[in-house]
Amino acid sequence: MKKITLTLATFLLTAAAAIAQTVTTNSLVIHADQGKFTISKNIYGQFSEHLGHCIYEGIWVEPDSPIPNTRGIRNDVVEALKKIKVPVLRWPGGCFADEYHWKDGIGPRDKRPSLINTHWGGVVENNHFGTHEFMDLCDQLGCDAYICGNVGSGSVQEMMEWVEYMTSAADSPMANLRRQNGQNDPWKVKFFGVGNESWGCGGNMTPEFYSDQFRRYNTFVKNYDANSVYRIACGANGADYHWTETLMQDVGRRMNGISLHYYTLPSGDWSKKGSATQFEENEWFATLRRSEEMDTLIQRHSEIMDKTDPQKRIGLMVDEWGAWYDVEPGTNPGFLYQQNSLRDALVAGITLNIFNQHCDRVKMANIAQMINVLQSMILTDKEKMIVTPTYYVYQMFVPHHDATFLPAELNCEDYELNGQKIPALSASSSVDSTGAIHVTLCNLNPTSSASLTCTIQGASPKTASGQVLTASAMNAHNTFQDPNAVRPEPFTAVKIVNGGFTATLSPKSVVAIELK
Ligand code: AHR
Repeated sequence: MKKITLTLATFLLTAAAAIAQTVTTNSLVIHADQGKFTISKNIYGQFSEHLGHCIYEGIWVEPDSPIPNTRGIRNDVVEALKKIKVPVLRWPGGCFADEYHWKDGIGPRDKRPSLINTHWGGVVENNHFGTHEFMDLCDQLGCDAYICGNVGSGSVQEMMEWVEYMTSAADSPMANLRRQNGQNDPWKVKFFGVGNESWGCGGNMTPEFYSDQFRRYNTFVKNYDANSVYRIACGANGADYHWTETLMQDVGRRMNGISLHYYTLPSGDWSKKGSATQFEENEWFATLRRSEEMDTLIQRHSEIMDKTDPQKRIGLMVDEWGAWYDVEPGTNPGFLYQQNSLRDALVAGITLNIFNQHCDRVKMANIAQMINVLQSMILTDKEKMIVTPTYYVYQMFVPHHDATFLPAELNCEDYELNGQKIPALSASSSVDSTGAIHVTLCNLNPTSSASLTCTIQGASPKTASGQVLTASAMNAHNTFQDPNAVRPEPFTAVKIVNGGFTATLSPKSVVAIELK
């Protein structure tokens, strides 16, 4: 009996010591009196491509479908997306954009040509979702349109006519064709991309050649009437700084924005990226470490841009980013369908905090992709729909949309694994038009809680509340059988102390705090 008692006591002492060791101490100083830059809501943008089940089934089901829809667009999906306030939607690709001929996607649907989507899965593209359907989707979501034009295999005339078709109010051939197809008033097209990944699937061009192409195509992207197009040039693949350097020199202010594409692969190897759900801590660590590289990429591209654009008039548009894993077993490899776990919530939280921190230069970002493809918000299976952990992060970060970024200093412990280290915490903060301060935090460490003391200079909030997204397993994810395995809960481990706050962040969590 004695022996058992001693053993139990020893066990309890050891457990208490272990618990004590797994809480780290960290501090954050927020300068509420130094806000200068707006966090563009467009940082929270989305991307939808004719790829796998993103458009067809994910969004478009045809007007006569038994799945409830409005003019062919799924009601459940629109309703869910409205809650995350999608500000801008990029379409029709991606690689698909440089193979897309917009005239195939207008007019009576039963007369539109069917083609093969050679880039993605070799499936039949019936063109039933075209310009009118996309604009209807934007309208239903209440978001701006970001159209990506075809430079790779399309003509200058084709691009010029598309812009005229969409945005001209004149009595002109393309505007009249639009009217004939049922849309009297021109639409607003706020953002227009001149090609996609022109260094790769968009034509394998050199930056010098693409710069000339941009100058030529862009000349014919006209501003009709009240529509002023924000012109986005194809930017670099990750760390290709020469691309940015060349475009800043050769294109300069002819572009309003330049894109950047960066995907997070657990392994860093395109031939074997890693599974979305079957992984151990080493892959968790590697994925989050690679997500943090976004910070270096933005800093270095921005430094190059600063040389000729110190006033930061040209936006850096990260119009493709996110986690990219091996496809789910048994699915079409060309459909890029992957599950989305708590790890993806951390990838999203870390990356969105980085974008907020660089909001003086980053004017838009579009996670790839909105539904059923790569790091998506929503997964569908015929009439069923679930939202992912990444969706919830977007919901928790909504208060940052168009809020004023508040500079802050974070002092945090490292998360160490196998001799490698990354900062264990990530944070960003903003103040909205009502004076409420929002702080979003990630604890990357899957085994240690983090206790955080936050001092706020220039404000003294009286109340703190929040939400936390976490789960017991690193790979926890929502399924059609268990759609609520990962969802936010009220965050109670926060309290106001001396006009700042203290909080305890659970291991592997994303937290959003509101201070009033
Ligand atoms: O998002 C999937 C693909 O990734 C896009 O079509 C392309 O632009 C990128 O390579």
